[in-house]
This record gives sequence, C-alpha cells and structure tokens, in this order.
Amino acid sequence: MSALISIVLAVDPLVAVEATALDPAILDAAFLSTLPATTGFYLALAMVTLVVHVLFMNYAIAGTLYVAAAAVAGRYSGRSAMGSTGSLSMVVRDWLPSAVSAAITAGIAPLLFIQIVYQKAFYTANLLLFNRWMAILPVLIIAIYLMYLLKAKHLVTTRATKAAVGVGAAALMVYVTLAFVENHLVSLAPSSWPSMYESSASMLGSALLWLRLGMWTAGAFPLFCAIAAWQLVRGAGGAGENECAAAARTLARLALVGGAISLACLVGCAFKSDAFAASTTSIAGRPYAIVACLGACVAAGAWTVILVRQRLPRALVAAACTGSLLVVAGMTVVREVHRLAQLSGTDGAPREVPFGGGFAVFVLFAAIGLGVIAWIVRTVARSLPPTAP
Ligand code: HEM
Repeated sequence: MSALISIVLAVDPLVAVEATALDPAILDAAFLSTLPATTGFYLALAMVTLVVHVLFMNYAIAGTLYVAAAAVAGRYSGRSAMGSTGSLSMVVRDWLPSAVSAAITAGIAPLLFIQIVYQKAFYTANLLLFNRWMAILPVLIIAIYLMYLLKAKHLVTTRATKAAVGVGAAALMVYVTLAFVENHLVSLAPSSWPSMYESSASMLGSALLWLRLGMWTAGAFPLFCAIAAWQLVRGAGGAGENECAAAARTLARLALVGGAISLACLVGCAFKSDAFAASTTSIAGRPYAIVACLGACVAAGAWTVILVRQRLPRALVAAACTGSLLVVAGMTVVREVHRLAQLSGTDGAPREVPFGGGFAVFVLFAAIGLGVIAWIVRTVARSLPPTAP
C-alpha cells in the first residue's frame, strides 16, 4: 500500500512517524511553568494568535468543501434557485475569499512566534518538505482566484463548470491542510530527518498523517457551521427566518457528523502515537483537554437541539460558537504540549529564547496593528445596514 502511495505521489520511500519521547518533567507540571520566562512568553503569544488563525482556517477548509459539494449537487445556481440550502451555499461562497484571506493574514503572527521558539524543528521540517512546503504559496493564490471565479456569475454558468471550480478550490485547500499537518509531524520526529534528507522519503504512508488530516478537516465543520449559522441569523445574504430554518438541519448534521469523525480520528491518533496520548492526559495537557471536552459537549448539545427544533435561535447559535471556540482553544494547547520536547537543548533543559533588542518596537507595532484592526472593524460595523432583531 505504502509503495503504491509512493508511486502515485511520485515520492521515494516512506518513513514512520516516531515522535521524540516526551520529558516527564514537562508533562508533570502546568503548561509553560517549566519553561524559561521568555520562551513561555512567546509560546503564549503563539497560542493566542494560532487560535485566531484556526478560527478563520476552519471556515476556509469546511466552507470550501461545503461549497464544492453544493456545486456538485447543483444546490446553488442563483437567487431564483435558492431552495432549502441555497441561501447557505450563496452566503458561504460569497464569504470564502475573505475567510481565506483572513486565515492567511492571521497565520503570519503564529508563524513568526513559532519560528522564534522552535527554530531547529520548524525550519528543518520546512526544508525537508521543501517543494511541497513552498507550493503552499502558489496553491493558495490559485485557490483564492478559483473562489472569486465561483462568484463570477457571467463566467461560471453551468453546473459542470461550477462543480469543477468548486472541487478544484476544495482540493487545493486540502493540499494546504495536508502540508501544514505533515510539516507539524515532521517537526515532531527528528529520528526520521536523516532518512528524509538522504532519500527524499516522506510521511505520506503514515496512518498518523491521514488520521491527523481527518481530525483537522472533519474538525473544521463544527466551528464553520457555528459561524455560518451566526451569519445567517445576522441576515447575511438577505437571509430571513425561512432561510435560517431551512439551513438549520443541514448545519446541525454537518457539525455533529464532522465533530464525530474528528473525534474518531483523534482517538486513532492517540492509539498510533504514545506521545500524543501522553500529552493529552498529562498534568500539562489535561486541564486544556477537559476544557475542549466541555466545549464539545456544549456545542454538541446546542446542535442536537437545533436539529430537533429545525430553527436557529440566537442563544443556541451562541452556545455552538462558544463550545467550538473552547474546543479550539483547549486543543491548541494540548497540541503544543506534544511538541514541548522539541524545546530541549543539548543539555536537556528547555531552550531560552533570547529577549533581544527591539522589544519596544515589537510592542509599539503590535499596539498600532491592534488599534488599526479595532478601528476598521468598528468603522465597517457602523456602516452596515441594521439587521432584523
Ligand atoms: C488558508 C489556508 C490554510 C489552511 C487550510 C491551513 C491549515 C493549517 C492546519 C491544518 C494547521 C495545523 C497543522 C497541525 O497541527 O497538524 C495549521 C497550522 C498553522 N498554520 Fe495554517 N493554514 C493555512 C494558511 C496558513 C498561512 C498562509 C499561514 C502563514 C502565513 C499559516 C500559518 C500557520 C501556522 C504558524 C501554524 C502552526 C504551525 C505549527 O504549529 O507548527 N497557515 N494551518
């Protein structure tokens, strides 16, 4: 099987993913508490900014897959043929380019912090993936153009062209997801670096890679559905009560099934990787895993009631959003506990990130950036037409 995958994907031998064993001292203490203050500071910033990236990235992944499926099924073909889920498809299709742009923009901050903290592991993974890592840039550019093309009513007119463009955009987004997942796993597995370097071996035959891809891809649906529901409730695309009611069942099903598949993949990852399981149940990871579980229960409860009632009451949509955000925040930390072993230097102690010059400049520009974002959001929100209560 792995030989077949190698041929299909034109890569050389496959390597097993063997994550570095985790340091018990790191696992048996509160998250960040065992790290030097500067390392902990930048890692905390990486976590906070990564959550924002995941928020938009979830909408981008699940939204593209949903729009592709809707295009294949002929579910949207203009206002006149909205049908039960047409309104939802149109709203998601319209917002996709913005969501992808936001995911890209929000990815830059964690990228910088993670590079600072995990220099060796992160850069080595980038270099070993090389062309497949660099391909992210052109792939994202093409994906965004395809998403705009999907909105061009006069260019993409037939069901076949809509389906082709939608499926193309979705395939490219899955490629980007795969690239990030593989990069993360490579960075966790220094023992496989020599064979990857010597023979261009890849991890594409590893079950862990596909389980993790499944976890991220299916796991993007609950938050995507919560945000899309919130958009409809707020009247996006002119959606009224009928459109909200029509979309309620689809969104609830997608969120519940996506969440269940993601959970199954997560359990699969825990079986495949002792380090993954240990980081989740460790003292460092457990509180955050509990937060994620609570969030999942809240979101699942809200979607179940929505499924039964076939309505999108604001309180339930808010509960679904809050639950999914708790899952993302909790799992972002659990994911990081798994990687903390990569911080150990040659003496075994966690590496200290130097608090070099220019910190004041960093703080200044961070404050200016946040201020400008807040101003833009406020200005745009004020100029939006009022929506029905
Ligand atoms: C819109 C398309 C994108 C998608 C679908 C996507 C998807 C992902 C996924 C699935 C992960 C988690 C990987 C894992 O834990 O296994 C991830 C992490 C990350 N992404 Fe994105 N991403 C996108 C764009 C970007 C861009 C353009 C940037 C940078 C500017 C970026 C920065 C990051 C960073 C820094 C991480 C954390 C990496 C790490 O912890 O090693 N992403 N992304």
